[in-house]
Amino acid sequence: MMKNALITGATGGIGEAIARKLGEMGYSLALFYGRNHEKAQALAAELSEITEVKTYAMDFRHPDKAHVAMGQALDDFGSFQLLVHGAGISVRGFFHELEDPDFEELLDINLRPLYYLTRKVIPDMIDRQEGQIISISSIWGSRAAAMEVGYAMTKGALEQFTRGLAAELSHMGIRVNAIAPGGVDTDILANLSEEEKQQFLEDIPFRRLCRPEEIADLVEFLLTKGTYITGQIITIDGGYTL
Ligand SMILES: NC(=O)c1ccc[n+]([C@@H]2O[C@H](COP(=O)([O-])OP(=O)(O)OC[C@H]3O[C@@H](n4cnc5c(N)ncnc54)[C@H](OP(=O)(O)O)[C@@H]3O)[C@@H](O)[C@H]2O)c1
Repeated sequence: MMKNALITGATGGIGEAIARKLGEMGYSLALFYGRNHEKAQALAAELSEITEVKTYAMDFRHPDKAHVAMGQALDDFGSFQLLVHGAGISVRGFFHELEDPDFEELLDINLRPLYYLTRKVIPDMIDRQEGQIISISSIWGSRAAAMEVGYAMTKGALEQFTRGLAAELSHMGIRVNAIAPGGVDTDILANLSEEEKQQFLEDIPFRRLCRPEEIADLVEFLLTKGTYITGQIITIDGGYTL
């Protein structure tokens, strides 16, 4: 069976861990990233020891270029059996002070690619009657998120995308799920002050952040053991939302 995976946000803390896991599982990898060329090249060099890897610089703030990169990836790989939406940014602050460009970026990076990338990979999945789509949401996708209202709006939409698409595709052998982490130890948390980080840690029953590898393990579970799971948003948060 062909196993090609496209991962967005592959240079992110979570995306990188997922890429490593999928490489170990024998997937050929199309690594999509934004601006961190150095990390993308280093990751590709590392993973090319164990699988086929190609990198695609694709800044989602420029959808035209993004479409070109997507076309190139499809030319290179032919089709994808797995799509992981891992790219994302967070913007903190009062909703009434959110700048228009920041809100546009949230939509460009967290939301719009769900629409235009997914639509490119689905037709082949339907032809083959197999495929999986896994998106990275957040606990704020379904809970009140003061100071991150714009971010939470995009994650709420991602979760409805997951449920709706799963319902639409479930009889075609295609599973669509999302993972909703609490705090994961990656660069995205750089927008929290030290004090906010400390408070966050104290509020997590496990008293630690999730390791990116633990998200990758959940992806592996969904791919290999979770064969009767679709349309679900799986929380992984060390008890934070209990
Ligand atoms: N870490 C957490 O605590 C946490 C919690 C809940 C949910 N999440 C979600 O998990 C996902 C991954 O986050 P992370 O923690 O791995 O964050 P991260 O380390 O900051 O990585 C973010 C990724 O998104 C990519 N990206 C950013 N701007 C982009 C753009 N304009 N065009 C294309 N790609 C762009 C980055 O690429 P470049 O660096 O190459 O530009 C990077 O690969 C996000 O959706 C986030 O919302 C994270």
